[in-house]
Amino acid sequence: MDINFYQKTCLEFEEFLMQSCPKIEGFHPYFERAFWEMMLNGGKRFRPKLLLSIVCAYNPSLSKNAFLPALALECLHTYSLIHDDLPAMDNANLRRGHPTLHKLYDEAGAILVGDGLNTYAFYLLSQARLDNGVKIRLISELSNNGGIGGMVIGQAMDCYFENQTLEISKLKIIHHNKTAKLIATSLKMGAIIANLAQNTIEMFYEFGIDLGLYFQIRDDVIDATQSEIQAGKTTQNDKEKNSYVNLLGLEGARKHAKDLQENILKKLENMTEGARVCLNDLLGEYFKEGVR
Ligand code: IPE
Ligand code: IPE
Ligand code: MG
Ligand code: MG
Ligand code: MG
Repeated sequence: MDINFYQKTCLEFEEFLMQSCPKIEGFHPYFERAFWEMMLNGGKRFRPKLLLSIVCAYNPSLSKNAFLPALALECLHTYSLIHDDLPAMDNANLRRGHPTLHKLYDEAGAILVGDGLNTYAFYLLSQARLDNGVKIRLISELSNNGGIGGMVIGQAMDCYFENQTLEISKLKIIHHNKTAKLIATSLKMGAIIANLAQNTIEMFYEFGIDLGLYFQIRDDVIDATQSEIQAGKTTQNDKEKNSYVNLLGLEGARKHAKDLQENILKKLENMTEGARVCLNDLLGEYFKEGVR
């Protein structure tokens, strides 16, 4: 497995994303611009890169065919962030180093851009150059894990239980749903595109669940420890939330993340060389940094 191929694919995906802004009919003064604005404003592209890592490792000839599914993931994720920042949810003013859409424009516009990105994700999946059977499996996974079987119910619990302290086992269920399932689905979608055996697909999903929990605990620590300039988003914003930092303390949350990281690294060792190399490339920078 050539690591340069994976890195090049990720760069090409970023260029592809930048040029993928759809034309939107009508006479709204800024909806078309606002629709793609948060996509253009950056972000780590963690979920598309996870998907691409598996396709590059196992079936590199399909890497370009994986761009639309990777873009679909980023659209759905970006919609979840736009809605997450709304006054009725986390009420945040900054995202990806820019004012949130509802601050820059208006709340109705931000809600509708989110709605549009959500459905556009499934339009993109339908357009991918992949077998119809594969596309139906992708649609099924993303709609469930990014919807009522994952992200949406996770976000609903996260918001409903603000100001009520939950047990850590319940917080784990929230993080599992709101964050880990979409991260696990990113790997799973890559594995479906690469046409891997069912047990390997499930192995990547389970690995993604561990990774997703690690990712959200790390995010909880970022909220408590970083400035909004460092994080590129509103921080010190979880005071009323059930977060790992609020339930376990900062050191407790860091320790938990470190244990998860060790477990993830162990699992990586048992993967095939291609997957290990690509995932190490993607995860290395997070793990090197640790959870500070
Ligand atoms: C932020 O996700 C929300 C969480 C699920 C923790 P990211 O940290 O991936 O945000 P971007 O995409 O890089 O902006
Ligand atoms: C959001 O979690 C998870 C989503 C599904 C969007 P957070 O509310 O902690 O994410 P940030 O910190 O605002 O990025
Ligand atoms: Mg939130
Ligand atoms: Mg938030
Ligand atoms: Mg957070």
